[in-house]
Amino acid sequence: MSKGHIFSTFELHQHKGLKVINNLSELLSELNNSSKDEYAAIGARLEIPIEQLKPYSYWNSKFYARNCIERTEHFELILLCWEPGQSTPVHCHGGEECWVYVMDGKLTETHFQYDNNELITESAEMLGKGGKSFMCDDLGYHKLENTNGQRSMSLHLYMDPIDTCTKFNENSNNFEQVDLSYYSYKGELSKALV
Ligand SMILES: [Fe+2]
Repeated sequence: MSKGHIFSTFELHQHKGLKVINNLSELLSELNNSSKDEYAAIGARLEIPIEQLKPYSYWNSKFYARNCIERTEHFELILLCWEPGQSTPVHCHGGEECWVYVMDGKLTETHFQYDNNELITESAEMLGKGGKSFMCDDLGYHKLENTNGQRSMSLHLYMDPIDTCTKFNENSNNFEQVDLSYYSYKGELSKALV
């Protein structure tokens, strides 16, 4: 079991019995009226039906698509749309915490540690529909891959927006800083990326 899942299970247990959030408007309202230290608890209550996120769902055959649903100075809610086999690089989280909620399909999350100039695989776990995971830099590095054989969708709640992160370049065997961008923003495709 990954460290991320230990935290996730703890959060889910801790908030068992609390009202689930099954409406996007309600989620945005709660986020806008909560402080940063309450976001992790909100992430654990996510149960948004897939139909509500259809207006934000865009895919691209060349890369997994980052579709921004909402962004404030305090949080960022992103719908990731994955074609079969698409994967993130191994990356860190720029100091920010993130909840991942699998809306549809299956993602495999692999955790890594970097030690003595070597990337070491720590654990790998498949997240099915409804699965949740939590990630922060204290847990090392991770990557997500759509191992579903069909399209997958995941909702990501970043506690503080994240504009850059460090990814592992497998060719140079080194880390490099990358800027993150959106494929769509609030339901509109970003023209620069189309
Ligand atoms: Fe990540």
